[in-house]
Amino acid sequence: MKQSFTILGIESTCDETSAAVLQDGKKLLSNVIYSQIDEHKKYHGVVPELASRAHAAKIATVISEALQNYTIDCVAFASGPGLPGGLMVGRVAAETLAAYKQVPLIGVNHLEGHIFACDFENGEVKDRLRFPLVALVVSGGHTELWYVKNYGQYKVLGKTRDDAAGEAFDKVARLLGLPYPGGPQVSAQALKGRRDAIAFPRPLLPGTWEFSFSGIKTAVSYYLRDHQNFSIPDVCASFETAMVDTLVTKTLQAAKKYKVNYIAVGGGVAANSLLRETMQTRAKEQGKTVFFVERKLSSDNAAMIALAAYKKLEYAQQTGKPFQANIDIDPNMKVRSW
Ligand code: KG4
Ligand code: ZN
Repeated sequence: MKQSFTILGIESTCDETSAAVLQDGKKLLSNVIYSQIDEHKKYHGVVPELASRAHAAKIATVISEALQNYTIDCVAFASGPGLPGGLMVGRVAAETLAAYKQVPLIGVNHLEGHIFACDFENGEVKDRLRFPLVALVVSGGHTELWYVKNYGQYKVLGKTRDDAAGEAFDKVARLLGLPYPGGPQVSAQALKGRRDAIAFPRPLLPGTWEFSFSGIKTAVSYYLRDHQNFSIPDVCASFETAMVDTLVTKTLQAAKKYKVNYIAVGGGVAANSLLRETMQTRAKEQGKTVFFVERKLSSDNAAMIALAAYKKLEYAQQTGKPFQANIDIDPNMKVRSW
């Protein structure tokens, strides 16, 4: 790679339109995020058609705000997984710009971005991650456990069979009449409640590294049906505790089984305070170190996409392995080793 190498990253997989400029894989020069929450709020979830339209309406402004007068050497975008309409908007914008600037175009996996985001600290890439590690990717659309040997070397251990963790938070919030997105709302209510008030299930699914959160959500809905005078804080505190206990227990079991000392946690739900505290405390008891993404980079952003692209380019350069540009969009993209 030449001495100074600047990447423009573009993210449009779900309900955030974002563009970021990353210099030399180290310094974040800009990271502009436009959140579509207001557009989706009244529907209690992301409406794909509205999301595509909002991406199309905002992407040019977001890119131009992030780009300012920076010279770029490469354009990277998230080519999957995600909603098809948003992915198409991201690809067209990225490809047009790359062709105009005559620089290479790279597609990266959005979920890889969520884990690499753990390397950022105050706008600088500190290369904090240590390997091998077990990664927990936990967001509104995904909940997965990976064994990660190094950057770009993955084995997916398991995924959720039904709802993603963030989706379960959003659905429980809706049952309780709390606004979308539900995670922060449930978490705020939980602070006022008793964590042991209601014994919601912990679906550990022994013998697999899979998750299943629809049962906890259903248990909450039965509890609300069967109790006239329930306490919203108690329901939130008990639900959040069951969710966090399940996520932490399975992640630590995987770390133990795969004999790793490091854990990385990324994605929107990684902003959850109880998850952060419980994972840190229980991992420490077992002599393991946890890398949590900073809260401001936990939800979707283009900084993590630019960094994933940089790591991919650096790996190709260091190993001399053929480089996969990966620019075909794939709504169901699986994570693949480089
Ligand atoms: O990563 P993200 O921004 O979008 C996806 O790629 O899905 O994650 C959004 C999800 C939503 O479901 C939201 O409710 C959840 O992350 N979330 C939280 C918290 N903050 C956001 N869930 C639990 N506790 C939080 N503090
Ligand atoms: Zn995401």
